[in-house]
Amino acid sequence: MADSSVRAVTTNQTDIYKNLEQVVRKYAATRFLRPVADHTREAFESAKEFVRKFYASENSAQQDPQATPRGDAGAPTGSATLIASASASSPSNAEGSLPASYCVILDSGCGTGESTLHLARKFPGVPVIGIDKSAMRLNKAGNIHQLRHATSPWREERPIGSKNGVQQNQGENSAEPASSALGAPPANAFWVRAELLDFWKLALEEVQAGRWQVLHHAVYYPNPWPKESEATRRFHLHPIFPTLMALSSTTELRTNWEIYAREFAEAARILQSETTGAEPNLNNADATTRGKIKPAISCEPFAPLHPETAFERKYKEARQQLWRVLIKF
Ligand SMILES: C[S@@+](CC[C@H](N)C(=O)[O-])C[C@H]1O[C@@H](n2cnc3c(N)ncnc32)[C@H](O)[C@@H]1O
Repeated sequence: MADSSVRAVTTNQTDIYKNLEQVVRKYAATRFLRPVADHTREAFESAKEFVRKFYASENSAQQDPQATPRGDAGAPTGSATLIASASASSPSNAEGSLPASYCVILDSGCGTGESTLHLARKFPGVPVIGIDKSAMRLNKAGNIHQLRHATSPWREERPIGSKNGVQQNQGENSAEPASSALGAPPANAFWVRAELLDFWKLALEEVQAGRWQVLHHAVYYPNPWPKESEATRRFHLHPIFPTLMALSSTTELRTNWEIYAREFAEAARILQSETTGAEPNLNNADATTRGKIKPAISCEPFAPLHPETAFERKYKEARQQLWRVLIKF
């Protein structure tokens, strides 16, 4: 039976934001200059250290980023392409000594961290970093709801973010679910408590310096800010949007609000045409030319068989229509 306590998005908008094009074009030519908060800088450093150690450890020797993802159910569209593209930047350079470029996956606004677990288990050869500003949500990673419903192996919870409650020498901004009776956490999953806008800026510095390659960027159920008067708080109407889009060649947004999905896809299209002059394929995010990915954007309703996040489960139980935007640049 549908859960009537989970309300659909209430908004005074009937269509995509009227000034979307103007706002996106304005920010395409600017940089978001707000200084990065110290706590997010520290959190980011811990994520960098995790990635470095992951590739230095035996895990990376045993787990090939090019390996086929584990299990197909619920895999993001284009996962195979995601992994195939990792071949361009395996963790070692030609001499096999210094890293050329570390492949990572980001799970932005991961909430209780369930999607981070899914991604980490699906792509065991790639570090997956879940980021959220809410200590309360992060502390619920492995919570009882997740245990009942998710395919995750977690069975008990340890508060995360505590100095000693971490698996791999993480700082106090870090967050790591407990080892469980049924097995250790995936070695490639890592959580940090951080402000996304700052984290993305720092991550882009790594990308632009060639130290990181973000193979996939999951942005699942971001806060919708549904009132028109609050529209510019949405990621795609904010000066951070060019940074967000530049981070990864594959960005996947999920939302329960059609207008948000359409706006996000349209903003990505406008930004792409503004910055490169290229018009991406619309509604064909798997388009390829001679094996190479063409810029492409899809925006479609979707119905996950197995929800991968707490919000996704809630919306599915309430029989709300979900939307997925997949952007490949
Ligand atoms: C609607 S919840 C979705 C959580 C999770 N992705 C899910 O589907 O269950 C949105 C999440 O984004 C986080 N969030 C929103 N804005 C953020 C920001 N600027 N920095 C960090 N986290 C943010 C919130 O704390 C919240 O956990």
